[in-house]
Amino acid sequence: MDLPEGRLIRLRARADARPAPAEALLTALPTPLLVVDEEGVILDANVAAETLLNLSRSVIIGMHIHDATGHHLRSVPNDTPFVAYDLEVTLPGQRQQRADLTAAPLGDWPGWRVVTIHSHPAAGPIARRSGHAGAARTAAGAAAMLAHEIKNPLAGIRGAAQLLETNADADGRALTRLIRDEVDRVVALIDRMEDFTDTRPLATSPQNIHALLDHARAVAAAGFGAQVHVRSAYDPSLPPVLGDRDSLVQILINLIKNAAEALGETGGTILLTTAYRHGISMLTDGGDGRRHLPIEVCVIDDGPGAPDEISEHLFDPFVSSKRQGRGLGLALVEKLVSELGGMVEYAREGMPERTVFRLLLPRAKDR
Ligand SMILES: Nc1ncnc2c1ncn2[C@@H]1O[C@H](COP(=O)(O)OP(=O)(O)OP(=O)(O)O)[C@@H](O)[C@H]1O
Ligand SMILES: [Mg+2]
Repeated sequence: MDLPEGRLIRLRARADARPAPAEALLTALPTPLLVVDEEGVILDANVAAETLLNLSRSVIIGMHIHDATGHHLRSVPNDTPFVAYDLEVTLPGQRQQRADLTAAPLGDWPGWRVVTIHSHPAAGPIARRSGHAGAARTAAGAAAMLAHEIKNPLAGIRGAAQLLETNADADGRALTRLIRDEVDRVVALIDRMEDFTDTRPLATSPQNIHALLDHARAVAAAGFGAQVHVRSAYDPSLPPVLGDRDSLVQILINLIKNAAEALGETGGTILLTTAYRHGISMLTDGGDGRRHLPIEVCVIDDGPGAPDEISEHLFDPFVSSKRQGRGLGLALVEKLVSELGGMVEYAREGMPERTVFRLLLPRAKDR
C-alpha cells in the first residue's frame, strides 16, 4: 500500500517519539503467551495466559509447561518455529481443551521459547479443520450397517419384481419396472455411502502432487468445471507427497467440484496452489511424537464462501447448502485426508476474502 509521503513521515515521527512498550503490547495481546526456558520452566506469562490457565502470573511463573498444558514439548525443536494443530491440552485443574500450539525460539536466549496457545472454538485463523474424524467414523459405521442390512433384502425385492414381471400385463409391468428402478437407485446411493466403510489401510507411495492436480483439473474441465477458469501457482521444487493416488485424486476432485459449484453459473476463478511449509507438524496425541506435514495444497475460489450457519460443520456428513447436495463430498475428503495422516481446513482469507480449502500432507521421505 502506498501512503502519501507526508502521512508516512508523520507516522514515523509518532513511532519514534513513543514506541509502544513491549509490556503494554503483551498485556493487550488476546492470545495466551508463555515464555519457557530450555527445561520447560515458565519464565513469564501474559494476561490472556492468566485467564486461560485461571492462575495468576506469579503462580504460573516457575511452573513446568507440562503442568500448564499437558505437554512437555520435548520433541519440539527449540531452535526453529513450530506449530502443532489441534492438540488435546490439559490445563490446570484437569480442564481438557483442543488447541493449536505454536513455539518459537527467543532470539538472544538460546533454548528459550515463546509458546502461544490458540484454543478452540475461539476460532484461531482457521474456521474448521479435520482431526474430527469422529464424525466420518460414525458415518462409516452407519453406512456399513445400512449396506449390510438393506442391500441383501433389496436384492430379494428386485428379484421378486423381475419374476412378477414375466407374468404381468402392461400396467403390471410398468409397476414392476418402477420397483426395479427405485431399488437400483437406492442400491446406487448405498454404494456411494460404502466409500465411507472402506477401512482397508492405504498403500501409500511417493506421489507427484502436481501431476495429480493437473489430472483433477482435466476431469473438472471435461465436466462439472467446464465454465470456470482454473489457474495454478505451483512450487516447482516441491518434493513428492506420501499418499495414495486414488485418494488424492478423489480429494482434489471433491474440492474443485465444490469450488466450481460455489462460483455457480456466472463462472469465476479457481486457483490451485502448492507450497512447502517448514515447521508445520501435528503432534500425535498423548505421545511426544510428531508428524511433519510440510506440503500445502490449496484450492481457492473467489465465491461467497459457505453460509455462516453451517461453516462450523462443513466436514460433517449430510451437511449441505445445495438443493441437490448430499453433503458427502467434504466428509469423504476428511476421511481420506486423515487416512493419509494429513489435515484439511476451511478458511476465508485475503483481501478481498476468498474461500480456501487447505490440505497439509506428509512428504514422501519423512517416514
Ligand atoms: N468452495 C466452497 N465455497 C462455498 N461453500 C462451500 C465450498 N465447499 C463446500 N462448501 C459448503 O459445504 C457444504 C458441504 O460440502 P460437501 O461437498 O460436503 O457437500 P455438497 O457439495 O453439498 O454435496 P455432495 O455430497 O454432492 O458433495 C456445501 O453444501 C457448501 O455449503
Ligand atoms: Mg460437494
